[in-house]
Amino acid sequence: MVDVNNLNVKFGEKHVVHDVSFTVDKGEIIGLFGISGAGKTTIVRVLTCQIEKKHWTGNVMVTGLSPEKKSNHSKILSNIGYVPQLELLNLYFELDPMVNVEVFTSTYGMNKKRAKETAEELFKILDIPRDTWKKRVEKMSGGEKKRLSMAIGLIHNPDVLFLDEPTTGVDASKRYDILSYLKKLNQKLNTTMFIITHDLESALICDKVAILKDGRLLEFDTSQNLISSLPSEGLIARFTIEDLNEKLIAFIKKFPSIRRIIRVGNEAIEVLMENFEENLPKLIEYMVDNNITITSMSKDIATFRRYFQIRIQKEEEEESSLKEVKVIRK
Ligand SMILES: Nc1ncnc2c1ncn2[C@@H]1O[C@H](COP(=O)(O)OP(=O)(O)OP(=O)(O)O)[C@@H](O)[C@H]1O
Ligand SMILES: [Mg+2]
Repeated sequence: MVDVNNLNVKFGEKHVVHDVSFTVDKGEIIGLFGISGAGKTTIVRVLTCQIEKKHWTGNVMVTGLSPEKKSNHSKILSNIGYVPQLELLNLYFELDPMVNVEVFTSTYGMNKKRAKETAEELFKILDIPRDTWKKRVEKMSGGEKKRLSMAIGLIHNPDVLFLDEPTTGVDASKRYDILSYLKKLNQKLNTTMFIITHDLESALICDKVAILKDGRLLEFDTSQNLISSLPSEGLIARFTIEDLNEKLIAFIKKFPSIRRIIRVGNEAIEVLMENFEENLPKLIEYMVDNNITITSMSKDIATFRRYFQIRIQKEEEEESSLKEVKVIRK
């Protein structure tokens, strides 16, 4: 459905996407993750025909067509949908939802009756209350607006839907609602979805996740595979420790099988190590013998949030050790 091979994007001297390649099959949900400036929006802008060819190189196919050719743009645009970060960019607030649908479908030359039927079907899946269908959009709640914006993005039954930050600025409980609506839509309509997001919880509904940093694709896989690639398949021990400080952490780090310690709170750390089950009792013994007071302990599997943090940390460490090597060579 979407094929990206060796995509490079440059704006003048600024090289913002480096050799990115990935393939997405029909019906998959892909999460694009990465700290600000990683290149997420730029990649999606190439896929949605918003960046002129002179700025990019590589082989890119979206629904079997290349955005390289201007003559393909209108066909690609009718095959895809886009839900912007701000609803006000694709909704007319002074009109009601049904009139919004009419405005959008007329640009696709969709038949009015079919558009209305599709809208009703989408509104029902998205629980947009019937009594709001004929009221001005501005009177709808934030969550209803967001869902309407998704319905508009899907109204022409696109093969691929791009969503920019669908859960940003939405309160925690509503965030899960939006994610479950997206999953429901994906299952009912088999729409391929790209979710650009800072919200690491979104990985829960993604078939694959892409992790980007400084324009480079660090990982593209299922979150389960990524988590399992951690030492001991991602098993983590969480300790709460009295009077925890950096010196104490450095001391604990000396325990041989430890691969990483992440400070997760004022008095809490999470520990990844090789041969977890065998080494955990030994680690506890080591801490007790050295007068470290453990006030609680639990074990768990790493979440995607934790994986992401570890992966970015690892990349930064590698970058800084490379820099050191360069300095020494000079
Ligand atoms: N038209 C442009 N001209 C010059 N530089 C650009 C242009 N568009 C994007 N960039 C640069 O490319 C880099 C990647 O930007 P991009 O918007 O793709 O990041 P992002 O991962 O979407 O970040 P965010 O999470 O903040 O939205 C940034 O350094 C940005 O300044
Ligand atoms: Mg962005």
